Amino acid sequence: MLPSSRTQLGLFFILLCPANIIGLWWAVGSPLVMDPNSICRKTKRLAGKQAELCQLEPEIVQEVAKGTKLGVRECQYQFRFRRWNCTSHSKYFGKILQQDIRETAFVYAITAAGVSHAITQACSMGELLQCGCELTRSRAPPSPTAGPGTEGTAWEWGGCGDDVQFGYEKSQQFMDAKNKKGKNDIRALIDLHNNEAGRLAVRSYMRTECKCHGLSGSCTLRTCWRKMPHFREVGDRLLERFNGAFKVMGGNDGKTLIPVGDNIKPPDKQDLIYSADSPDFCSANRKTGSLGTRGRVCNSTAMDTSGCDLLCCGRGHRDETVVLEENCLCRFHWCCVVQCRKCSVRQELSLCI
Ligand SMILES: *[C@@H]1O[C@H](CO)[C@@H](O)[C@H](O)[C@H]1NC(C)=O
Ligand SMILES: *[C@@H]1O[C@H](CO)[C@@H](O)[C@H](O)[C@H]1NC(C)=O
Repeated sequence: MLPSSRTQLGLFFILLCPANIIGLWWAVGSPLVMDPNSICRKTKRLAGKQAELCQLEPEIVQEVAKGTKLGVRECQYQFRFRRWNCTSHSKYFGKILQQDIRETAFVYAITAAGVSHAITQACSMGELLQCGCELTRSRAPPSPTAGPGTEGTAWEWGGCGDDVQFGYEKSQQFMDAKNKKGKNDIRALIDLHNNEAGRLAVRSYMRTECKCHGLSGSCTLRTCWRKMPHFREVGDRLLERFNGAFKVMGGNDGKTLIPVGDNIKPPDKQDLIYSADSPDFCSANRKTGSLGTRGRVCNSTAMDTSGCDLLCCGRGHRDETVVLEENCLCRFHWCCVVQCRKCSVRQELSLCI
């Protein structure tokens, strides 16, 4: 766990340079006890929009941090059985972000998605003054038969729909901030594209939930509202985009991206893009941000990325028996206690050499 001074430093980074998400991920390593007001006061070198956002909407800063945490957790879940496992170890993580590889694309997308999701969620929970449930008055009323579910049942918008557009726009303001110096135009275009792909992985997959109303269980009227996809679903989709990511290069004008290789179809807005090939992440390398896979748990029977062959890069694995303590022989006592005993369970693990 990071001490709070480091947390502040991490947040300081975000605010200085929001497009640089190293600081965001860093800050996430600790319980976020933060006072956005004091952070805003401390950061004097803020550029235009961020200064505004920070000073006018400090509570949004807090949601940005929550959203980043959501993104980090999801990234680590999605990559748990891969050579690069989305470690947030700052030294190595920073190196990943300095490159322009697929992994970088995923990190940008999942972070922008997490921020959209968290802000929208906060709106629906009534935690922000700036926003609330989605306004449906301006939306065309659903036609009686077009609704989901029972045919012929009238339905109307109601309940509390997620105002995903608000989260989308705030995430955009915050994450798409122009980097003043450093990155070249092409790199900036790629980052912006991947941020957008992340936000669209939330906004484009809204689902409709409904509730029945009527006497004694009849369903004479249904009210419906739109909800965001669960974040796990967002992560699953972005992993698919990661697997099918497009390699691009900059055009001569320095402002356009051209697909590389034999892809006939150019990437669409929801695709992830990158410009450099990933290292193999087999051995530790500070330069590339690879921790290597020595000691990683692998699956000796799986043929996919979690299998020992791929995960251990052909170096082989050793089997180890570990003894874990587990709850067992649990009994329910009226009322309401569950008592368990501790049992030792042996588990065979395969570890990369
Ligand atoms: C990721 O892999 C490294 C070793 O390569 C390991 O130390 C670390 O615990 C792993 N992290 C997660 C979140 O699984
Ligand atoms: C290992 O891989 C096999 C085959 O894919 C799978 O059925 C099994 O659940 C995996 N085991 C673990 C511990 O993940």
